[in-house]
Amino acid sequence: MSKNSDNGEIRIFRPGACAPVRGNGKRRTPARAVITGGAGFVGSHLCERLLAEGYEVLCLDNLLTSSEKNIAHLGSEPGFAYIPHDVTRPIFIQGPVDYVLHFASPASPQDYLEHPIATLKVGSLGTHNALGLARTKGATFLLASTSEVYGDPEVHPQPESYWGKVNPVGPRSVYDEAKRYAEAVTLAYARTHGVRVRVPRIFNTYGRRMRLNDGRVLPNFMSQALQGEPLTVHGDGSQTRSLCYVSDLVEGIFRLMLLDRDEPIIVNLGNPEEVTVRDLAVEILEVTGSSSAIVYRPLPEDDPRQRRPDTGLVQRILGWSPKVSRREGLRMVLPYFQEAVRAVSKEVPDFGAEIVPAMPAAASAL
Ligand SMILES: NC(=O)c1ccc[n+]([C@@H]2O[C@H](COP(=O)([O-])OP(=O)(O)OC[C@H]3O[C@@H](n4cnc5c(N)ncnc54)[C@H](O)[C@@H]3O)[C@@H](O)[C@H]2O)c1
Repeated sequence: MSKNSDNGEIRIFRPGACAPVRGNGKRRTPARAVITGGAGFVGSHLCERLLAEGYEVLCLDNLLTSSEKNIAHLGSEPGFAYIPHDVTRPIFIQGPVDYVLHFASPASPQDYLEHPIATLKVGSLGTHNALGLARTKGATFLLASTSEVYGDPEVHPQPESYWGKVNPVGPRSVYDEAKRYAEAVTLAYARTHGVRVRVPRIFNTYGRRMRLNDGRVLPNFMSQALQGEPLTVHGDGSQTRSLCYVSDLVEGIFRLMLLDRDEPIIVNLGNPEEVTVRDLAVEILEVTGSSSAIVYRPLPEDDPRQRRPDTGLVQRILGWSPKVSRREGLRMVLPYFQEAVRAVSKEVPDFGAEIVPAMPAAASAL
């Protein structure tokens, strides 16, 4: 799928977004972005968005927790190249790079508990390598951080100034501490080498291309409801989550990467509309029309009790706030999960993700 020419350079076929003015004061067209983890759930939506904006996109991924199906539809896009690569190994890219967006990392609890060392390595070595690329190319670096850096928070909602309450040795620490280290090394590159850095702390996001069985609460409930199985709520269900529709998140990331400021920017990106896990289960039963029961199971270790971003800072800096309500988002994503469940029930063995459902009219307003 990659579009390398004989000399290893990516060919450029169409005009698009301009590279930012740096150094010689001249602009190149189009701007070029490297997206690590670009074949994943969020990364693939980001690839789509940047291509639509006229960027040239190089997607680096080792498919640890994703599938090439997520980006198969981008293969014919002239500005797109997929480069299979484990970013814990050194990254060499020929030619200019204007943005490095580091999204590579297992992200669901099930994935990072299954790949604990790989998660720590991609957060440490992978971030170090991606920063090295940004430094060499004079590119803006954006780290996909997470609300998990706040751990099981004692402050609610969580502002960026909160340092978090994280168990450094619990099972979830492989992800939480990897991301906290990734933030630390990112800020060190900004202070020591003058790399321009942005750190969005992403709260729970959902949308098409999530894997049905990735263990996150929304795909779990959708899959159980659509298959007529009981919805599994952990604890008494009073713990809260705040769910952001993927197009809102991508809009926030896009604005953040373009922000014309040199100092490091750390912002929460998430939807402040908070819901208890029990109420979310009920909403999903309503949206799917399912009559499944709700069953209660013990809470996993270090499960956060409350999650809601304080979005005051990001609103001030980027003028960003989410547009898609949870009800609307659940309706919009429903056809994707229906199709995914149908594919599983037909026993399609390697079902990965890319199903493009006939979206309801509301989707076109995004
Ligand atoms: N989805 C969310 O709700 C959410 C919330 C907070 C933070 N994030 C962050 O956003 C990023 C993307 O999350 P996602 O939900 O799309 O997860 P995902 O698992 O769908 O995508 C992660 C991608 O990274 C790739 N990857 C992992 N290790 C790699 C390595 N060593 N080299 C190259 N590629 C590698 C995987 O193959 C996958 O394609 C992650 O960094 C995650 O921590 C996501």
